[in-house]
This record gives sequence, C-alpha cells and structure tokens, in this order.
Amino acid sequence: MSDNAPTVIHRRDYMPPPYRIETVDLHFDLDPHRTVVRNTMRIVRRDGVPADTPLELLGEGLQLEAVTLDGVAAEASDADGRLRVAAGRASFELTVTTHCDPAANSSLMGLYVSNGNFFTQCEAEGFRKITYFLDRPDVMATYTVTLAADKEAYPVLLSNGNLVESGPLPDGRHYAKWVDPFAKPSYLFALVAGKLVALEETIQIADGTPKLLQVWVEPQDLPKTRHAMDSLIASIRWDERRYGLPLDLDRFMIVAVGDFNMGAMENKGLNIFNTKYVLADQQTATDTDFANVEAVVGHEYFHNWTGNRVTCRDWFQLSLKEGLTVFRDQEFSADMAAGEGDAAQAASAVAVKRIEDVRMLRQTQFAEDAGPMAHPVRPESYAEINNFYTVTVYEKGAEVVRMYQTLFGRDGFRRGMDLYFQRHDGQAVTCDDFRQAMADANGADLAQFERWYSQAGTPRVAVETAYDAAAGRYRLTLRQHYAEDRRSDTPADPLLIPFAVGLLDAAGRDLPLRLNDEPESAAATTRVLALTGAEQTFEFVGLPIDGATPTPSLLRHFSAPVIVDYEYDDAALAFLLAHDSDAFNRWEAGQRLATRALLEMAQTLSAGGQARLSETVVDAFGKVLADDTLAPAFREQALTLPSETFLAEQMIEADPGAVHAARTQMRGRLAEAHAALWQRIYEAHRTDGPYRPTAVDAGRRALRNLALGYLAELPDAAAATLAETQYREADNMTDRFSALGALARIGGTAAQDALQDFYRRFEHEPLVIDKWFALQAMQPDGAARTIDTVRRLFTHPAFNLKNPNRARSLIFSFCAGNPAAFHAADASGYAFWAEQVLALDALNPQVAARLARVLERWRKYVPTLRDGMEAALQRVMAGARSRDVREVVGKALG
Ligand code: ARG
Ligand code: ZN
Repeated sequence: MSDNAPTVIHRRDYMPPPYRIETVDLHFDLDPHRTVVRNTMRIVRRDGVPADTPLELLGEGLQLEAVTLDGVAAEASDADGRLRVAAGRASFELTVTTHCDPAANSSLMGLYVSNGNFFTQCEAEGFRKITYFLDRPDVMATYTVTLAADKEAYPVLLSNGNLVESGPLPDGRHYAKWVDPFAKPSYLFALVAGKLVALEETIQIADGTPKLLQVWVEPQDLPKTRHAMDSLIASIRWDERRYGLPLDLDRFMIVAVGDFNMGAMENKGLNIFNTKYVLADQQTATDTDFANVEAVVGHEYFHNWTGNRVTCRDWFQLSLKEGLTVFRDQEFSADMAAGEGDAAQAASAVAVKRIEDVRMLRQTQFAEDAGPMAHPVRPESYAEINNFYTVTVYEKGAEVVRMYQTLFGRDGFRRGMDLYFQRHDGQAVTCDDFRQAMADANGADLAQFERWYSQAGTPRVAVETAYDAAAGRYRLTLRQHYAEDRRSDTPADPLLIPFAVGLLDAAGRDLPLRLNDEPESAAATTRVLALTGAEQTFEFVGLPIDGATPTPSLLRHFSAPVIVDYEYDDAALAFLLAHDSDAFNRWEAGQRLATRALLEMAQTLSAGGQARLSETVVDAFGKVLADDTLAPAFREQALTLPSETFLAEQMIEADPGAVHAARTQMRGRLAEAHAALWQRIYEAHRTDGPYRPTAVDAGRRALRNLALGYLAELPDAAAATLAETQYREADNMTDRFSALGALARIGGTAAQDALQDFYRRFEHEPLVIDKWFALQAMQPDGAARTIDTVRRLFTHPAFNLKNPNRARSLIFSFCAGNPAAFHAADASGYAFWAEQVLALDALNPQVAARLARVLERWRKYVPTLRDGMEAALQRVMAGARSRDVREVVGKALG
C-alpha cells in the first residue's frame, strides 16, 4: 500500500466476523516500560464459516511472546498488524502473550502513562495496542481482568465491572481481579492503576439496591470532586425517571486524567475523563466549566445504556450511540437548568440551553457540512475512524434524534426507546434498527427519514408567504434544497423536515393556527408542519378577517437542522426580537438582525469603505438591554453577537480581518449608544450570598460580565477601574476570569500586572493555566502582535506540547479561536500552524489531525489568503506521516 493513499474503508463492505470471542481473561503485569499482557480467549467459529478460515487478530505496536491453542504452543504468523492463527477447530481457547511500552506511548491510545499512573483509551481502535484481538464493536465478550503491579507505586488497581479478589504478591507487588458481568465490545475495556484517591458515596436506586459511586483523582484534586459526584447522582436519577433505565452494576467509577485526547470515555463501569470535565470548584472553575462537567458526566453515564448495553455494529453507526447520547445529555442539562426557578425561569432556561447548542451547531457543523470533510451522520467511508468523531456525527446526529421527539412527542419517543431496548439489549446494531424501533413503536413510516442518515450537507428551506386579509387565510410555501456547491456526492433527495411555525398579530400575540382541512379544535399557536416534498404549500385558515399582515415565526425552537431563507426586513426582525413567544426565535431574530448588519459592514470594510451601524439595530438591541422582564441568561444570549467564525462562514469569500473590524465596531457602537444601560445592568446583577453554579446565578454573572465587556469597549478609564476591582475582589473564577479578559482587552500595564498575578495565583492549577494561555492566544492584535505572544508563550516553562489540554489552550486557541490574528496577510499564522501540525503528528496523530482541520476551509477565503493556506497545507502533506493527518489534509487539497 502506498503511503500517499491510505486504505479507505467503506460501509457497504461490512461483513460479520468469521469468529466470535465469547470470554476474555486478561492478565496484566504492569510496568511503565515493559507491560506484559496475557490474553486468554474462548473463541467460536460462527455457523457456516468454512473450517479452514484462518483467525486473524488485529494488533498494533505489540511485541509477541507466545501463542498457545488449547494449552499447546501454536503456529501463528505475525505481520502487518495481524496475527494469523490456523485454528482448524470450531471452538477453542487461545492465549496470546505480548508486551508493550506504555511510557513511550505519546498517542494516548491504548495503554499509556500519565503523571506516573496507568490509563487506557480504547475507542475506537486502541484495544489492539494492548493485545491482539478482533478489535471491532460487533465482537462482544465478557471480561475477567487481573492487574498485577508494584504496590507502593500503584496502590489502586481498577478495571471494568466488580472487584472480586485482591491481595499481595511477592516482591512488593499486589493484584486485583475484576469481573464485568456484561458482554461488551473491546472499545469499552479500561484499566487504571496508580496513586489515586476517591470521593465515595453509596446511593440507593429506585428499586432499593445500593450502588457504590466513586470519583477517582490525584490526591490534591479531591476537594474538586463534589460537583462531578453530584452530577453523577443527578444523571442516575434522571435516566431512571425519564427513561426507566437503571444503573446495572454494583459500582460505578469515574477517573480523571490530565493527559487525554478528548473529553471523556464511557468504558463500562469505569468512565475515564479529561480532568477538565471532572474537577471543579469555585476558585478555579467558571460557571461554564461547572455546566460542562455536569453535561459530560451525564453524557458518559447515559452511554451505559445508549452505547454499552446496546452498541454499534460497526463504526459507520457511531451516531447510533453518539447522536442519541448527545441528545440525552442536552435534555438532561435542560431539565437540570429548568429545575430551579418558576415556570417562566424554567422555560427561559430551556431556551438558553437550546440557543447554546444551536449556536455551536451552526458555527461548527454547518461549516463542516460545507467543506471537504462533509459526510452524512452515518458516513459511507473513512481512512481513519478517529477523524469521524465529528460535530456531524455528534451534534447533527443529536438533532436527527431530536426530530423523532419533535414528530412523536416525548411519550412517543419514550415508546420508541422502550422498544429499542426490548429488541436490542445486548446487541451491536445499526442506525436503521433505531429508526425502525421509533417507527414501529409509533405506527409510523419512517422510510424517508433514512435520508437524514445518508445525505451530507445542510438543507436549506426557502419560505414564501402570502396573506389574504379578506379571507383570513395565510399561505406558507416551503421549498427544500441543498446549496449548489455542496461538497458531497451523497444523494440530495427531499427530507422529512418537521418545520415548526407560529404567526404573530400586529400586537405581537400568537394567532391560533388551523390548516384548511382541520376542525377548529385543532388550533394551536405553534404548528409543526411535516415538509416531505421538494415544495409544499400549507394554508392556515380562520385568521381574523381584514387583520394586519401577520409576522411569521419560522422553525421555532430550531425544529430541524436546516437553514431558513426568508426575506425578513429589519423592522420584522426587530418586532420578533421584541415579541415572539418562542424564546429561541426571539434570540434568532436578534442574531439575524446583527448578522445582516455585520455582514454589510464587513463587506464595506473589505472593499475599503467606511461602515456604519444602522440605528434600527442599535435601538432593537437597546430594547432588549432595557427589558428587565427577560431572564438575565436569555438577555446575555440575545446581546452576544454572532461569532467571527460564524460570520466569516456567511460571506461569499471569507475575510476574517473585515469581520473582526465590523464586529469590533458594532460592539463599540452598542457600548457607546447604551453606556448608561450597560452600567445599570452591571450594577443590578451582582449575585448575593454564597457562590452557586446554578443556571439562574450563572445567568446573572454572565449578563453582568457581558456588560463589563461592553463597557471595556469605551474609551474612558471607568471600565478599567471596574475590571480591576472585580478582578481583585472576585470570590469565584467566573468573575475573576471575566475581569481578566476585560483588562486584557483594554491592555496596558494593568493588563500585564493582572496576567502576572493570575499566573502566580494559579501556578499549580493546570486547568487554570490552560485558561491563562488561551486568553492570551485569543487577544486581537494590538500594540504587540498576538502571533509573537504565542511564539513567546510556546517557550514558556509551563508549555508542554505533549499534554493535549495545554496544546489546545495555546495552539488551537490561536489557530481556531482568533481568526483575525491567525489569518494575518503575511501568512505568519499559517507557518505556525504547519509547524505545529507536523510536531504533533509525530507525537499524537489524533490531536494533530484536529489541528489540521483548521485550514480545511481554505478555499472559502479571500484570494489574498488562499495561496498562503495552500502552501502551508502542501508543506504538511509533504511531511505528515499519520493516516489521521494525511486523510484530513488530502481531502482539503483534493
Ligand atoms: N465515546 C466518547 C464519548 O463521546 C468519545 C471517544 C472519542 N474517541 C476518539 N477516538 N476520538 O463520550
Ligand atoms: Zn459519547
């Protein structure tokens, strides 16, 4: 196989494995440089498979020591990452002994060492770096695991399931034996060994059985585990209440590790987490960090049913577990946020959660869908599966799952879930199986819905409206299509799109809506229209005769992951922003208004002109600012302008410099026009009493800190004083870090002093030092160019390329989080990017490939930037060795 063309794996080539592995007995002699793994498997040839079919086990970077078949030394050949065994019998026991070098493993896949402790990461294909195996998710076995290690260096020995035995061994060693009663695919295997301590709690689940819960961390981090434990307990309760799904093991463990490629991993009974999603306390974690811990703890816990009990047949089905589990964690977070206040606060908290999720979907997934990595929720092919843990599989996948709930309601969705588990518990299945369960449980035909899984690209829905005032009729014509330049050869057939709409009368009240063939009793103020054709017209009747033209509120609550094209004028958007009963669409109207204004300004600036912000926009935002009836968290969302990344994506040719200038100008104008209101908001939203990371308190802090940020745009010195005082007096990280951000924006010695103080204060808190690097990497160019700051920080003693969190905090923050500075005209950002992708490629291909993706949209940019990007991509293509990076860069250049 040539190095230039990595092997591509196609979904259509799926074949069930010729052999089943029923039980696995693993024995580990743990040593950082030479860990010996003895793997004894009970293997059965599947019915109908010819007896001479060799068994081929996959392995990577393993040193083979011995192979025995039913206790006798066996013939086995070991080449190209495959161990071939001519078994010749239908059922047998195979023992493979290998060793590996965990301390030298910088890929953080398989077995590796982090800060002196052992950890594993097996999803997707890391188990083959631990032992030879049929390392694919449709091979489900029960595991018994014995860990042996030096007792002093590794006092704690953990694996999946239940601890059945432990004790001393000669030479200061000890052992522990774990049994996981549930059959599982190899990607859910895990072990942890080292000097760790746990926060423990025993709870009773609904049927009265006690469960031991543990959160394992390094000793100094124990005080930061309470929130993760509370989140775990809340997750267990929620899954029982909402879906009737209980915790099925006697014990459930979460372990935190500082070196981790992603967020967290749902290994059966032994979830392993990036410290970033476990550790949280008032002094070191922001409100967002607290919310993320809750969401990720929930996500991994919910996988216990959606992913573990029912798993994926093959990796093309990844969204079966990820889309579904993201949807579940979104619903969990929404319920948690809604649980605090009165009904109005609850509704607003749910909307805010939805807004956050949609903001992220649009900024990242829509861009992915429009670029060279575009793929359907269920991809058709891949070279490296790690490149397909994407926002399409996760977040668009979650939107697809959400649409079932939108179509069938919560109860109908629950019926579908129940049937899914009834049919498939203990199996490895496909996205089609899930869709079929939803269809059958609801007596629905979901054949067309399959297209959501097989078609790449973001659908657009063009809307036309016509109002017949004399007849009280309102017509809505919906046309669906994909953008002309969709970069995918998957089909583009009409989808089933649940399209939620409302109509507002002249006073901003919802009109009752009834379709022309329905009885009057059917009227509701939000109707979910089922768009199935390429073009369809819906007619609402019985509206007030001779009323004013209603204003349509389209795609309420973002009922489908599509782009709506409708010619709203500024006045209509300002009206919706002021009145829509659907809080999501209220926000949406403000974003549309701001986006349009910003794009016009960016276009003008890009052409060398002088831009001006329209007063309609200034006034519309002023109204939100002054409206104290709105929940603070919602107001904060409404007043946060679309991100530079999102805006650049909306231009025909992206010009990050112009976008940055336009956005800065708009922020400045909103700050100046409403200075007194910002000041009032700042004063009015102190949070009294002890710090609580609840949605309500977090919303107040968010709004107040947003106000501080706007005030920092003003030329006078007042904001600097506010920020300095807030920085000094803050009793929590949210307020302290926001103040630091405001100071950094203002610049000067106060900023330098605060940055230094912050470093000294938190020198021993790695997650806070990550924030310190990130904040500096995301500053716009000022007196100093940020690229120079970044290069200087690169040589800082606390910088470490091998630690993914640290690499992300400096390199990714600059390359992906600071578009204007990164896309400097002199290509200095691109040169830095190429260097870093290549450096990471040699250490950790997965992290390298993520960074490589930053330039995949290079064709989208203004011509003056394209050459520099292309040259940097070529340079990486010439130097990169990993399949991960080569796939990404190859597609970008292709
Ligand atoms: N299953 C994990 C989660 O979503 C993520 C695993 C990511 N693995 C990878 N190879 N990128 O919770
Ligand atoms: Zn997941």
